[in-house]
Amino acid sequence: MNKNLAVKLCGIPMKNPLTTASGTFNPQAHSQFYDLGILGAITVKGVADKPWPGNPTPRIAETYGGMLNSVGLQNPGADAFITEDLPFIRKFDTKIIVNLAGHSIAEYCRVAEKMTQADVDLLELNISCPNIKEGGVAFGTNASMAEEVVREVKKIVTKPLIVKLSPNVTDITEIAKAAEAGGADALSMINTLFGMRIDVYKRRPVLAQKMGGFSGPAVKPVAVRMVYQVHQACDLPIVAMGGVATGEDVAEFIMAGATMVATGTMNLTEPDCPVRILKELEAFMEKTGVTDINEIRGIVE
Ligand SMILES: Cc1cc2nc3c(=O)[nH]c(=O)nc-3n(C[C@H](O)[C@H](O)[C@H](O)COP(=O)(O)O)c2cc1C
Repeated sequence: MNKNLAVKLCGIPMKNPLTTASGTFNPQAHSQFYDLGILGAITVKGVADKPWPGNPTPRIAETYGGMLNSVGLQNPGADAFITEDLPFIRKFDTKIIVNLAGHSIAEYCRVAEKMTQADVDLLELNISCPNIKEGGVAFGTNASMAEEVVREVKKIVTKPLIVKLSPNVTDITEIAKAAEAGGADALSMINTLFGMRIDVYKRRPVLAQKMGGFSGPAVKPVAVRMVYQVHQACDLPIVAMGGVATGEDVAEFIMAGATMVATGTMNLTEPDCPVRILKELEAFMEKTGVTDINEIRGIVE
């Protein structure tokens, strides 16, 4: 059976719906495991206007079915990303989504300006990082701030703008609608859930920052629920992530309403998981008689 896996996100054609969740994927390192050209798109780690050092260690901890991190958006800054990382990523036959980080509207706008001029395909505005003190999630948990930052960044960018939402809210549809009102072209979700672990022998938190972002297969039902709710509430295309580990997980998110789906924490434990996941997705389509992946988008009422 001939199968179509190609999708369009904001009018941009992708060879399949699979991408990588920001911060869980390192093009140089992962390209040693498989040809990154098999991906519909590569989404890169959050980039800020200037380099950020990240948070003190320990900043990673394992949990059942997932992990906690408080990396804090460590990154080399936009200029180094453009000159050092981007030419390498461009060598692969895939689209590039750049994740934008900032502490303030002015910082988001400065990095957005640099990246909209760079050789990338789409931009993803991260207003949902739980691991930085100012900015980040403060924008993603307040509807009027979310709308304002999206509106200001949209004034600058000429590339499609995906807005990445936080799950750490009472009603994610409220923030989704605010981002839509601000002019977002697409939404991505979910970022990590705010969590904590305590080392009972040392009687102190496991992470130096005390709290961090919870991700991995254990969070998937929360992510599916949020993708479903947002798809019901708003018209924007969705890039889904949160615990994706199998081809069936990709189909599940697409049935909930997603256009693209990202592997996140799984990239850390099984670096070539996209190869397996794409095969499983094709096998799922074969088994269930789906000839075009677009047929099943949002079919769950
Ligand atoms: C170590 C680590 C670093 C991350 N860095 C970023 C980041 O820079 N920008 C961002 O928007 N999300 C970041 N995230 C969140 C992921 O992109 C993703 O939204 C989240 O982990 C849920 O997907 P998963 O359960 O498949 O990992 C990071 C997650 C992890 C585990």
